[in-house]
Amino acid sequence: MTNNQSTDLLFEISHLGRRCHRLPACDVPEKDATALVPADALADAPPPLTEVGEIDLIRHFVNLSKRNMSIDTNFYPLGSCTMKYNPKRHERLAGLPGMANLHPLQSDASCQGMLAMLWSMQNILAEIAGLDAVALQPAAGAQGELAALLVAAAYNRDKGQTQRTRVLIPDSAHGTNPASAAIAGFDAVSIKSNDNGLVDLADLKSKLDDRTAVFMITNPNTIGLFESQIGEITKLIHDAGGLVYLDGANMNAIVGVTRPGDFGADMMHYNVHKTFTGPHGAGGPGSGPIAVRAMLAPYLPTPIVVKDGDAFKQETNRPKSIGRVRSFFGNVGILLRGYCYIRTLGPKGLRAMTENAVLNANYLLALVKHALDVPHGDRCMHEFVASASKLKRAKRISAMEIAKRLLDFGYHAPTVYFPLVVPEALMIEPTETESKETLDAFAATLLKIIDEDPAFLQNAPHTTPISRPNDAKAFKEPILRWKA
Ligand SMILES: Cc1ncc(COP(=O)(O)O)c(C=O)c1O
Repeated sequence: MTNNQSTDLLFEISHLGRRCHRLPACDVPEKDATALVPADALADAPPPLTEVGEIDLIRHFVNLSKRNMSIDTNFYPLGSCTMKYNPKRHERLAGLPGMANLHPLQSDASCQGMLAMLWSMQNILAEIAGLDAVALQPAAGAQGELAALLVAAAYNRDKGQTQRTRVLIPDSAHGTNPASAAIAGFDAVSIKSNDNGLVDLADLKSKLDDRTAVFMITNPNTIGLFESQIGEITKLIHDAGGLVYLDGANMNAIVGVTRPGDFGADMMHYNVHKTFTGPHGAGGPGSGPIAVRAMLAPYLPTPIVVKDGDAFKQETNRPKSIGRVRSFFGNVGILLRGYCYIRTLGPKGLRAMTENAVLNANYLLALVKHALDVPHGDRCMHEFVASASKLKRAKRISAMEIAKRLLDFGYHAPTVYFPLVVPEALMIEPTETESKETLDAFAATLLKIIDEDPAFLQNAPHTTPISRPNDAKAFKEPILRWKA
């Protein structure tokens, strides 16, 4: 990015911020705000909090923060989660008062800058998808899936196609796909993967009929492979009267190179927090806009931002809409960061992002595949899935042992035991923002670990405050207090 581009974007976001103003009602002084609370709901005295000096407080929080593993502190190759660097400049832009201090109940007239940004984002995401209309509201990928499936159901109801009760989903899919199908009221039907890790066409054909509402596909899939049969698959689904849904969690591998709409998808979701950055993980806020073909646009969730002359407004009066899927306009702060990322990179930069993500993953794959089994393919897209199956049989080193030991070297573990179709899976996604030096060091560590004494690995990690919690117990009986 040049200095000029940087100044232009700062100018643009500041300008959008100046087109928003906080309502006077949002600046109620504290004493007046207290008067708004019913007397019987007010406490008699302040809560009895421990008094500590500033220095003790600072030490407490700084020491806690040092226990955090984050993309700002460590390499984080968490497959499928696309943990790429979140540019700090975008945090500053998203924090500009005109954008950050808005209240969701303000009138459209008082937040024109924010609405202008959201309107542009709708158009940009439609363009990148190769689809016609976008709704920005869903708060994460999983909610985007649910919203799009509700759109598909509404569309089929309108067309009198109520027998379409099934959603077909490859067995390599993320668990949210069948969960979303079930919550939307469909029956989820699993489609087998073939020996190459792609969709088994014979199994797909045997389950495809006029009960099929949607085929959900992740492309590239969770094994890190581009579904090369996608043209044939989309034709089969369309010929049977079904819709094709693209789970866009892996868009980081294709943005600027191909478009879901061009390879036959009728609808999709984005994970803005992954592909276009936004601090996420461990509960960080997400954003899962959906894009659809024109025939599905009337059913999109509301509000949609529309342009009326020079003004922008939130349109809610859309009679066929499935309605709101989240309060207000979703996570606009994440959409704003995504907008900054897209505008900073521009079309050429987005393509370079994709190419470098794929290059980095293939480089890392080439460094480790002679020692770590990678069952599907010599090449990958933006991530690859290794298997510790052979190591487990030969030396009793499982995927979990490798993941735990990586923590001792300051690396976040890769995603493990997913996708389910690869036994002892280690799903590794370096992202485009990592340097060759980081990838070399990580590969060297991985190779060193698999040569270590299995008994030593079985007790790893050796350097963290907690070693191996009982995951099931922690889930069932969470300890929510810092100290008893
Ligand atoms: C392939 C795939 N689909 C869907 C999702 C769900 O996205 P989100 O976590 O934003 O709800 C994920 C998340 O990791 C994913 O990897």
